[in-house]
Amino acid sequence: MTKLSVNINKIATLRNARGGNTPNVLTAAINCQLFGADGITVHPRPDERHVRYRDVLDIRPVITTEFNIEGYPSDEFISLVISVKPHQVTLVPDAHDAITSDAGWDTLRNRAFLTDIVAAFRKKGIRTSLFVDTNPVNIENAALTGTDRIELYTEPYAASFSGNAVKAIEPFIKAAELARELGLGINAGHDLSLENLHYFSECIPFIDEVSIGHALISDALYLGLENTIQMYKRQLV
Ligand code: PXP
Repeated sequence: MTKLSVNINKIATLRNARGGNTPNVLTAAINCQLFGADGITVHPRPDERHVRYRDVLDIRPVITTEFNIEGYPSDEFISLVISVKPHQVTLVPDAHDAITSDAGWDTLRNRAFLTDIVAAFRKKGIRTSLFVDTNPVNIENAALTGTDRIELYTEPYAASFSGNAVKAIEPFIKAAELARELGLGINAGHDLSLENLHYFSECIPFIDEVSIGHALISDALYLGLENTIQMYKRQLV
């Protein structure tokens, strides 16, 4: 069954708006797991406007499920991940000033760079995942880096889902089948929601994990965190 990892960056964004400790990101991580999340994702960005590096260290001991740290592999990020030793690291090609991740890796151009970083994490027993779009060249070259998994960048699926769901999912099915043939595990994330998640999961039931933040935390404002997590889990095949 596909696992649900809840990205708690939005909780930190809300906390940072006031400078205090409300809402508390540690409590959020604990509660998401109690309410059924199969994992917690954090994405420390260089300017620390969401989850901070300090949060990542503090959250580690309360993780009872799976911890996934996402980010651009700067030297600082690599040191943080190696010291925290999460279950999984997801590497994204984010520019420093990106509002959110808005593209996958060009794995052909960055293959040598990524191969070295993937090897360094794997040596420490940390599973690796590379954020990529559905272009087969990027998936084939991701496999050549030695990564354990890819994470499919689902924003284009979410953006065209309401217009033509069949057309929107098509490149994702092809990409996921190719990744599976190449022996890669497959995660997915970005703009997945209660509206589009079930169809995604039904069409690609062999996805290992989805990572969801923005829509889930927004839904929780109206539906409550426990109820929302359960609703998202029910969308997954
Ligand atoms: N995966 C990656 C690599 C991301 O950068 C993000 C956003 O931080 C997500 C998944 C989750 O996206 P969303 O917040 O739209 O659910």
